[in-house]
Amino acid sequence: MKQPPIISMKKICKVFPLEIGGEQQVLFDISFTINPGEFVAIMGPSGSGKSTCMNIIGALDSATSGVYELYGKDITTLFPDELAKIRNEYIGFVFQNFNLLPKRTILDNVMLPLMYRGLPITERLERAREMLKLVNLEKFESYLPTQLSGGMKQRVAIARALAGNPKLILADEPTGALDSKMGNEILKFFKKLNKDLGITIVMITHEFEIAQYANRVIHIYDGHITYDGAIPKNESVLLKSEQKVRKQ
Ligand SMILES: Nc1ncnc2c1ncn2[C@@H]1O[C@H](COP(=O)(O)OP(=O)(O)OP(=O)(O)O)[C@@H](O)[C@H]1O
Ligand SMILES: [Mg+2]
Repeated sequence: MKQPPIISMKKICKVFPLEIGGEQQVLFDISFTINPGEFVAIMGPSGSGKSTCMNIIGALDSATSGVYELYGKDITTLFPDELAKIRNEYIGFVFQNFNLLPKRTILDNVMLPLMYRGLPITERLERAREMLKLVNLEKFESYLPTQLSGGMKQRVAIARALAGNPKLILADEPTGALDSKMGNEILKFFKKLNKDLGITIVMITHEFEIAQYANRVIHIYDGHITYDGAIPKNESVLLKSEQKVRKQ
């Protein structure tokens, strides 16, 4: 049986109310599908709407209008507690600043998403240790996050993201807080997860060099998709695509 797309967005718009009154539209008719096994970069300048789009993909926020289906299920109008369940079941998150609990060990951090699943402690431990091994940190399970380098912290975050066996990894600027050597190591690891384990990855970045680790790029400018396709040879193709919006 053909698998449904992991993500299907149809004419998604997002409008934020402004504190000073009025409102601001941040996303305009965003439509795309992402199939199982893809590695997609979402690119665009600061303020273009990448994180807003990612928050909707990740069921952390809902769209103002449009239809969003995650793994064939319409989640546009779910309530927050239902969205939380969907997030826990389907999505692993990786953030720029790792978002690890500072006072908990590495092992506890990785076990955390499994707590909500009602798994017995022995299974949670086994799964978390397996994931730490996958990111080559099995010797560090009793360390605290503050005792690790940035690259290692991000590997813990990836282990945590993978622990619940998600269909999708969402990464918002995953190398933004790392030097280029550690950043490349993380990107190579994502590439491996995608290629060898078939994990679908959606990664936000504003750097073309980083987007090249993906197989497809969606370029957002001022809340509009201006390019969606294979990674072009040159960034100028993406920058030129922005003119479509500027001319409007
Ligand atoms: N909760 C909010 N309320 C009001 N406006 C918001 C909110 N969140 C984001 N915005 C606005 O939406 C626009 C897009 O923001 P977003 O964070 O999605 O951009 P981004 O592409 O992720 O930028 P960056 O590269 O700087 O992270 C910005 O103008 C921002 O000020
Ligand atoms: Mg952002």
